[in-house]
Amino acid sequence: MSSYIIKGGNKLEGTVKISGSKNAALPIIAATILAKGSTTLYNVPNIQDTQMMYEIIKILGGTVQKKKNKIIIDTRNIDKYEIPDTLMHKMRSSVIIVGAIVGRYKTATFSYPGGCDIGSRPIDLHLKAFEKLGISINQNYGSITCTAEKIIGNKIDLDFPSVGATENAILASVLAEGKTMITNAAREPEIIDLQDFLNKMGAKVKGAGTDKIEVEGVKKLKEISYNIMPDRIETGTFLCLAAITGGMVKLEKTNPMHITPVINKLEEAGCQIQIQGETISLQAPKKLKAVDIKTMPYPGFPTDMQSIMATIFTIAKGTTIIVENIFENRYKYVQELNKMGAKITVEGKSAIIRGTRKLYGATVKATDLRGGAALVLAGLSAKGTTIIENIEYILRGYENFDRKIRMLGGDIEVTNLI
Ligand code: UD1
Repeated sequence: MSSYIIKGGNKLEGTVKISGSKNAALPIIAATILAKGSTTLYNVPNIQDTQMMYEIIKILGGTVQKKKNKIIIDTRNIDKYEIPDTLMHKMRSSVIIVGAIVGRYKTATFSYPGGCDIGSRPIDLHLKAFEKLGISINQNYGSITCTAEKIIGNKIDLDFPSVGATENAILASVLAEGKTMITNAAREPEIIDLQDFLNKMGAKVKGAGTDKIEVEGVKKLKEISYNIMPDRIETGTFLCLAAITGGMVKLEKTNPMHITPVINKLEEAGCQIQIQGETISLQAPKKLKAVDIKTMPYPGFPTDMQSIMATIFTIAKGTTIIVENIFENRYKYVQELNKMGAKITVEGKSAIIRGTRKLYGATVKATDLRGGAALVLAGLSAKGTTIIENIEYILRGYENFDRKIRMLGGDIEVTNLI
């Protein structure tokens, strides 16, 4: 297990280029399976979650060539349709690949997915969507097999606008017979990126970004190249890193439109923000002000920014109330932050943060990807040295995290990297 060792107190200042989006790259990598041939992707983040997707594609019989952030995936020789348990357990997003496998081969076998322990994370909505398309689901001792003679377009009304279920419903219906209409669909920008990618391949998907998505089945897709959108959560993380350390950052190659609620909350907290095209700059105030936050499906405040934003309010003036509406178990990091002097109490879906003057270095453990990133923010602002254990969680989702932080003047090192 690897750790970060952070000496807090430096202001983060300078310019950072934002990487490609993890949550857009994962379904798009899965979608390459739908075209029989080779797909070239640019701006793919080099993180553990994307590596895991490559592992799955290789096990199925595909090939993956990597050159920095350019990836060439060849799915011509895929001849296996079963995702091994070990890979399913390592990453929840692996379930996304099921829609693409069954969409192309009419069969897929997998087990219940794993990933960050931030709540129960069921997949019932994914399975219901598959069934609507005429796919039969057989469950046997934790192993799930999806099969269909024909996939036929249908109406799919999601009980909740789940991002993954929306993506899986699209992936499974792109090559279906007839038209599929997904209502109460998730509206996240990553779904628009998936739609743009699929349409470039020759699919007929429209409506992504709204709650109604229409997919008209096509017979086959073609080989293309595609540039993945910027990561909005990495963008928000670096803005918060500057905010908590009293610094100033300029973030390049991002899409400011995707993080409007995060920008609004940072401005309410006293940060000065400037947006110019694909660039966002943030100047932190002398003292941050407490601001309340409620997480909601897009375009609301993103749950993935909850722990990170909460951390900046641990040293703000006043009391912050956070309400987490998406995942029921997303406050595990609180116990770790409290070891560093934060004053947070959790009551069900809500966390109450009483701002304190300073955090203090301690040995803490990352409990999930974004909760781990929150501890990095805390460590960089704290007095003294912080050791963050289990950083494997953080490496799942941030490309060159420690290197980018060092470029901004943060004192962070990695130990025991395997
Ligand atoms: C995606 C993102 C994740 C983000 C989340 C919410 C990726 C790879 N991950 O995860 O970073 O935090 O959206 O914005 O894009 N649910 C069910 N049944 C289902 C599916 C989901 O009850 O079949 C519930 C979940 O338990 C959760 C809520 O719906 O409470 C939202 O989950 P969902 O939108 O599906 O998140 P993911 O797609 O897993």
